Amino acid sequence: MNSDTQLSLFNESNFNQKDLIPTDAKIPIPSGTYANMADLAQHCNSCHRCSLGENRTHAVVGRGNLQAKIMIIGEAPGQNEDETGLPFVGKSGQLLDKILASVNLSTEQDVYISNINKCRPPENRVPIPDEMAACKPYLLEQIRLVDPKIILLTGATAVKGITGSKQGITKIRGQWIDWEGRLCMPIFHPSYLLRNPSREQGSPKWLMWQDIQAVRAKYDEIRE
Ligand code: URA
Repeated sequence: MNSDTQLSLFNESNFNQKDLIPTDAKIPIPSGTYANMADLAQHCNSCHRCSLGENRTHAVVGRGNLQAKIMIIGEAPGQNEDETGLPFVGKSGQLLDKILASVNLSTEQDVYISNINKCRPPENRVPIPDEMAACKPYLLEQIRLVDPKIILLTGATAVKGITGSKQGITKIRGQWIDWEGRLCMPIFHPSYLLRNPSREQGSPKWLMWQDIQAVRAKYDEIRE
């Protein structure tokens, strides 16, 4: 879309008149739109930039420390998250908390957690590219507001949503990538670990243990 088209879309008729929510996913949400996470959350809860908004109980925006140096990005809410409005509170979330705790990282203090999509896809399916694109400006605003030094991308959808890369997670996990001046590491999604419980050397859980120790070491390094 060229900038003239973008500008012509950026007029009041394309916004919810009450609080200027861009109702069309083609309309960009410019960087700097939100002064704080509460304003952003309010928009997410009345957003219809994609059809996922039709069935949500709550938009799931984030949890944790709004000034954390580590941000964790997942895929999309499941049922527990849709019901509570908080990301990663079901079985995957409990495992994620345990993984963080194993290297003394607390979700409340050290981490801010969010997702590529803020609304639950039906039957917990993977969000489609249009849904990911419609929601991405919110995530970019969250990253700007939290300003993390480290971003952990849990699973292939998070990697694709942020970097656009379609590489398999098994291939790229554990490697630091520079994305927009931030250190990002793709890691396994906790739900994958729940399906693969072995702790043997070389297993997904063992690899996650290597990765989270590398994250802890980097966190200590950047805080020095
Ligand atoms: N899986 C995710 O990717 N995100 C959640 O919030 C919950 C489960």
